[in-house]
Formats: sequence, C-alpha cells, structure tokens
Amino acid sequence: MLPKFLTDKNLTPNVTINPSLNYLGTESAFDFGAKVMEVEKSGKFPQIYKFHVGDTGPKTPEPIINTAIKALQDKQTKYGHFAGYPQVRENIARYWSKTRGVNITKDNVMLQPGGKPVIEMSIQALVAPGDKIIVQNPGYPIYASLAEFYNHGNVLNWNARRDENKNTLEFEVEDLKKILSENNQVKLLMLNTPQNPTGMVFGKEKLEQIAELVREYKCFVVFDDIYDQIVFGGDKHQFSFLSLPGMLDYTINLNGFSKNFAMTGWRLGFIVAPTWVIEIFGKFAINKYTAVPRFSQIVAGVIFGEVELDGCKYEYIGDKVQEIINKDFIQYENKGKFVEAALRLLSPYVVPNVAEGAFYLFPSFHKVLDLPYVKNDLKIKSDKQLVDWLLTEKGIATLAGSDFGSMGAGFVRFSYAEDRDNHIIPGMKHVLKVVIELIEKSNATPPLLAADVDTKIEELVKKYFA
Ligand SMILES: Cc1ncc(COP(=O)(O)O)c(C=O)c1O
Repeated sequence: MLPKFLTDKNLTPNVTINPSLNYLGTESAFDFGAKVMEVEKSGKFPQIYKFHVGDTGPKTPEPIINTAIKALQDKQTKYGHFAGYPQVRENIARYWSKTRGVNITKDNVMLQPGGKPVIEMSIQALVAPGDKIIVQNPGYPIYASLAEFYNHGNVLNWNARRDENKNTLEFEVEDLKKILSENNQVKLLMLNTPQNPTGMVFGKEKLEQIAELVREYKCFVVFDDIYDQIVFGGDKHQFSFLSLPGMLDYTINLNGFSKNFAMTGWRLGFIVAPTWVIEIFGKFAINKYTAVPRFSQIVAGVIFGEVELDGCKYEYIGDKVQEIINKDFIQYENKGKFVEAALRLLSPYVVPNVAEGAFYLFPSFHKVLDLPYVKNDLKIKSDKQLVDWLLTEKGIATLAGSDFGSMGAGFVRFSYAEDRDNHIIPGMKHVLKVVIELIEKSNATPPLLAADVDTKIEELVKKYFA
C-alpha cells in the first residue's frame, strides 16, 4: 500500500516503501503558506491580509547578527561540538537555573538544530512498541503527526473541552487523569504552553496538578515552552514545569531561539533534560546531524554570557538583546489584545478566546458555519472550506482549526505576528466586514453595521496602540 500523499500525485515508487508513511501528517502553516503565495501572485487582490503565519514578525536583533558575522569572519566554520561547547551550555544552564529556580548544570543542556527535531528524538529515545503517547487536541500538529508515524494507534488525545455556551476551549486536568488511569504503558505526555494554536497559557496551579499525575503514573513529559517569554499580563516567563519538585527527572524541556529571539530561520534550539537523556540525544546528534553550526553555537552562548572559542572572544549581548525583544513582546501583547477585542465585536457569531501568550488566537467560527447563506449558498461545510474561501474569495489568510486536531473543528487560527499597520489593523477591518456580509446575506442581524466597522476599529486602535 502506497502512502496517500504519493498516490494523490500519481507518484509510484519502484520499490515497496515504509507503510508508516501513511501515518505521517504535516503542518498546514507551510502547505497553506504556498497556497497564499499563489493567490498573492495571481494579483486577484491588492493585498492578502496575513493571519496564517507561524513565523515571527520582528527581525533577529542586530547584536545577534553582528556576533554571527564576527564568528564567520573569525572562520568559525568547521564542525562544532556535537552537544554544544561546554561554555555555551554552562551559560544556558546558569540562566535556566536562575529563571527556573532549580539546579541545572551544563550536563543537563544540549543545543539542537531547532526545536522541532526534539519532538522526533524524544519519541525515538523513550517510546518502545506498544507504549502510548498523549498529545493535546487541538495542538501543534507535529506532535500528533510524529506520534502517529512511530506509534500508529497508540496516540491518545487529551481533548480540550468545548464550552457550548461560551464556545471556548479548556484543557481539564481531570480528563488527563482519566486517560492516564484508563491506559497502561503511557510513556510520554506532550505539553505545550503558551500553546500553538490557541495562545492559551497553563498557569502554575494546572502544571502542579499535572506534575502530581506524572509522579503517580511515572510518564515522561516533553515540556515545550518555546514561546516562554511571550506571555501577557506582566508575567516575565511561562511558569516552568521544571520548577516543580522532581520534574527535572521526568522532563525534556524543549526550548530555543526561534520565537523569543525572532530566529526561526537559524534552526537553533536546545533541551534541558536528565543527563541520561542528554547522553541519548548526543548519540542521535552524532548519527543524524553531527553538530549545530559553530557560529550559531557562539550566538546561543553570548545571549547568556561570554564565549571564548579557539582564541577568539565574543562578548555578552544578553542585556542589549533583551531590551530589543521586550519591545517585540509588548507589540505582540497589544496586537493580541487588539485582535481579540476586534473579533469580540462579532460575538456571538465569532467568539475569540483570551489572548494569553505566543502570537495566536483561536476564535470559534461555529455560528458563522451555521449561517444559512454560508451552508446553503456558499456550500461551506467545514472550517477548512471556510478558510479556503476566505483566502481565495476575500484575500484573508488564516489556518483551519481542524488542522490542529479534531477538537479544532469550527475554530480558525489567527496569528498576529505580522505587521500591525499593513496586516493586523486593515486586515481586521476587512475580516469584520466580510463576516457582517455573511450574516446579512443570511437575513440575520449583525452585531454591528459594516458602516460602523472603521470607527469601531479606530477606537480599538487608540485603546491598544496609543
Ligand atoms: C509549539 C511549537 N513547538 C515547536 C516549534 C518548532 O520550533 P522551531 O522552529 O525552533 O523548530 C514550533 C514552531 O512553530 C511551535 O509552534
């Protein structure tokens, strides 16, 4: 049996290939991104409003780029240390110990070629045939994709509960407890906060309850807090799972530079984990990719301290960088609150959740999908079809909620990473007008008139961006 993604394209290998490929999913942000580019190129719309991107809006801070340039000019171009130079790992360990309140040494730290590869290597390191993996639903799709690829049916969904009245989602710890108590051989729990796609943040209390379950059921956790500094409401960091008693022994903490430091294209991340996990990941590194590039290692190091390598010195840039990214975080927060408030104007047809972190919102569009004009005239039956229509007919790029798991059906992911003045503000005006038109064409009364949209949005602009 050939994997569907090949047969769909009439591609026929001349050998039998791995049947597990049928289980491999994808991340629609990349596939859909190509589609957005096609529509953009077609010239059908003067502009596409981009709410689909999972990339950062801001650019990599200048001191980071300058360090990388210096490292390249110093000819730091040969193989690097497979785990990360000890001084680099020491710098990260010192910072992590201080911010997480636990004693972490360099032997608990390893550089990675991005955050994403950690997901696959965690499964390869820990999961044996028959072991089960729990993933959040909705969740970052790579977790379910790789868990399915390696473990086929043994993937258990921690489903967020949908509040039928408020139309919002919530992950309840009692549901997680039920999964753990009803299944044996649960080996791994994939936990992501601030979360992609919802932008929800797990607070200390919820993480404490999860840690209690981890102690009881002895499962391992991939704690993905790659957006840990992009949290709103004055909290400086996501509260870390590592900070809870004993959890350093049960956790692979996936973190990196992509989101906080606007370095998605650098492919630079790290893990904090028990030393035996670092040993396994070290073997993986040597077998798979050898080492993170030297100049990237130097950059990773100077964000947290000084680095000296092969007689060249690189100064600490952390304070300068932090000043720059703190401004990015304020912008994310303001944009998030603005998009939330703008979408709330469409309530009850569109119901946003509260913008808590990362740069995503996950509003419910269930009542838009129920509109007679949408169902009967446009023949749109799902969030996927709605998102396609929004792109191809209205020039609005978002992602379908169901691309993040079955519990995302009826929701739409809005990223607010893009530029405020070119995308977020005019884009929201356009979104509001499009939804109002759908309501009116269904002979229902919209919560506000299209003629009032510009004024209402300008009021919100003053409130959030003044
Ligand atoms: C929750 C989550 N984890 C991990 C990653 C992967 O990060 P990286 O780009 O560093 O591989 C992403 C990227 O979108 C993400 O959203």
